[in-house]
Amino acid sequence: MKITSLKLENFRNYTHAQVQFSPGVNSLVGKNAQGKTNLIEAIYFACIGKSFRGKEKELISWGKENGSITLNASNQIRQKQIKVILQKGAKKSVKMDGINIRRIGDVLGEVPIVFFSPDELKLVKDSPEERRRFMNIDISQTNKKYFYLLSRYEKILDNRNKLLKSTPNKEVVLETIDIWNRAIASAGIKIAKERARFVEKIAPYADMANKYISNGESLRVEYCGIKIESEEQYVAKLEKSFEKDFKLGYTTFGPHRDDIDIYLNDVEVKNFGSQGQQRTAALSLKLAELEIIKERTGEYPVLILDDVFSELDAERRQRLLKFTSRCQTFITTTDESFCEGKIIKIQNGKLENN
Ligand SMILES: Nc1ncnc2c1ncn2[C@@H]1O[C@H](COP(=O)(O)OP(=O)(O)OP(=O)(O)O)[C@@H](O)[C@H]1O
Ligand SMILES: [Mg+2]
Repeated sequence: MKITSLKLENFRNYTHAQVQFSPGVNSLVGKNAQGKTNLIEAIYFACIGKSFRGKEKELISWGKENGSITLNASNQIRQKQIKVILQKGAKKSVKMDGINIRRIGDVLGEVPIVFFSPDELKLVKDSPEERRRFMNIDISQTNKKYFYLLSRYEKILDNRNKLLKSTPNKEVVLETIDIWNRAIASAGIKIAKERARFVEKIAPYADMANKYISNGESLRVEYCGIKIESEEQYVAKLEKSFEKDFKLGYTTFGPHRDDIDIYLNDVEVKNFGSQGQQRTAALSLKLAELEIIKERTGEYPVLILDDVFSELDAERRQRLLKFTSRCQTFITTTDESFCEGKIIKIQNGKLENN
């Protein structure tokens, strides 16, 4: 799918804006604090169902009661319209092709995107939670079952943890914990398998992208999660860790503790990579996603690069641009000399040149 147009009403610093996009590269250019990332955020919100920064209520323009995003996308066979209405003090409402959507998971993956910004460095640098988020968003975009499985897992996990904390009487907890152990094992094992498969698939593409952009450095990614073959084995593991879980008041075993190990030339990138190497590694993981989504859906997702070019040296920048020719791309920049394709100038929440 390619994003054909976007309309914003009272979204961040846009009172009213409407823009048509090119199916190739779209360069959003403007000085700092004009609304480049806000526009990207609107696209992300419509496609993923949440923001990459801030809370939902912060998205409505200051002093306004409601705001909206309308995004149109199409490919050779179909057209899609996603409309998000944000209201102060109420839940957002989402419409797809004019029909109300009850679950946000139903929108996810309709217009697959891959987003990268300097902030995504946290993917290689920060806690495992970031890498779990990466796996979850990516797998969910092409696998709705996974998305719902994940929310089921989180609910069961929450219930098990509540039970562990509910009473100091161990016998009472032991009476019912088996129900939760079985439920958690059934969902947990499926999540772990999906993630292992995903990382295995992404690994060679990430290595290829990294070698290409950095001119030769190899990147190795490995799923570091639960290695369990059957639900019985999973339940046995939970039973074994019961004493510890009961003492701590939460579940210590399961995919909610998963991670991905990332090595550059066989050295852990988190601890030893330079800023540039870490950035290239994170970017390579994202570029690998392009290929995975293409494999699964038959077409490339939309690539969004927020403020990425200013952070790379000229050679890496040139090499990155080669990837953008595969798919519809959005680039934000303060520097007009980095612009490619359709140029959209942004000044104080207003768009020019469309
Ligand atoms: N809810 C809101 N209502 C009105 N304005 C807002 C709202 N939220 C953020 N802004 C304003 O939007 C402005 C533009 O933000 P944005 O992050 O899009 O800038 P940018 O063009 O990406 O800048 P940079 O080049 O520094 O990244 C900010 O200065 C901020 O004050
Ligand atoms: Mg910005």
